[in-house]
Amino acid sequence: MANPVCLVSGSSSGIGAAIVEEFAAHGYDVAINYNRGADRAAAIARRLQEQYGIVAVALQADLSTPEGPFALVDAAWQRFGRLDVAISNSGVSSYVRDADGRIVRYRFQDTPVEHLEREMQQAVGLNLVGAYRFGQRALARLVAQAQGERQAGREPVHRSLLFITSVSDVAPESTRIPYGVSKAGLHHAVLGAALDGGPHNVTVNALRPGVVDTPLTARPSGLTDPDTGQELTVAQVYALMAVGGSQALPRIGRPEDIARAAFAFCRIPYMTGQLIAVDGGFTLASAFANRDLFLAEGLRRRRAAAD
Ligand SMILES: NC(=O)c1ccc[n+]([C@@H]2O[C@H](COP(=O)([O-])OP(=O)(O)OC[C@H]3O[C@@H](n4cnc5c(N)ncnc54)[C@H](OP(=O)(O)O)[C@@H]3O)[C@@H](O)[C@H]2O)c1
Repeated sequence: MANPVCLVSGSSSGIGAAIVEEFAAHGYDVAINYNRGADRAAAIARRLQEQYGIVAVALQADLSTPEGPFALVDAAWQRFGRLDVAISNSGVSSYVRDADGRIVRYRFQDTPVEHLEREMQQAVGLNLVGAYRFGQRALARLVAQAQGERQAGREPVHRSLLFITSVSDVAPESTRIPYGVSKAGLHHAVLGAALDGGPHNVTVNALRPGVVDTPLTARPSGLTDPDTGQELTVAQVYALMAVGGSQALPRIGRPEDIARAAFAFCRIPYMTGQLIAVDGGFTLASAFANRDLFLAEGLRRRRAAAD
């Protein structure tokens, strides 16, 4: 019998690469998508084939273009002739760089309009519109298979569409609001798609990661480590904060944490239209739990104001 097939957008790196590995380890054939990382994607495909004895293909598509998302789903369909799980994962931060390559940060109210346009184009173009169009084409394929099964007199099997979004939907970071906007906006599409998929036994959900150690969070944070004088990466900042009590589990996520959850979510037949955080407790309200920390800071600021 043919293996089930899983397509993951943006799976040449980080979370997406871990997701294709998780599905390959469970006997799925996988379609790996890359934009710029041709060599990385080819190496992943080779390794998964050797290690798990499945078929893995690497497909190029730029999902920020109008035609990219449909072309990707169609290429996977052409290669395998079936689709059981589709996962929209590709994404970028909203940060833009100046002519010298330095990240430029503005707070919400200070952002110049030309800068905001660039941020929005980058984040919304891929994270919202690209993911939306990927979801449209993937759902159409998933539904068409279910219709074929009905015509043949069978009940459609369970299939799944999952969107990797972010806890940034509800947890704003003051200098990258457009990123959260792109993820929060996509959630509405998840809800709508779930209604369309339901009658065809297709479940549609969003997995909202917290901070995960990937190339995306290896970028400079703008904050300096007072002990070393070195600039910390985003991942390093949140890892230190986690140890300091910012989240229930005292570590940031690993790509494998998200991949395991993605595999599980795609195999739950009676859950749809849900937007679920996998974040180590990052979005738990922490003011009661971290009373001592906030009290100490409040006292410090009161003293500083009095001086
Ligand atoms: N890391 C975190 O802390 C975190 C937290 C919450 C949510 N997320 C979300 O998780 C997803 C994966 O992030 P990650 O941390 O694994 O990032 P990553 O390591 O930077 O990987 C991003 C992936 O997206 C692909 N991609 C970028 N631009 C693309 C485009 N125009 N068309 C198609 N693919 C494109 C990249 O492909 P190429 O390299 O081949 O160009 C790469 O495979 C994103 O949606 C991100 O927003 C991440």
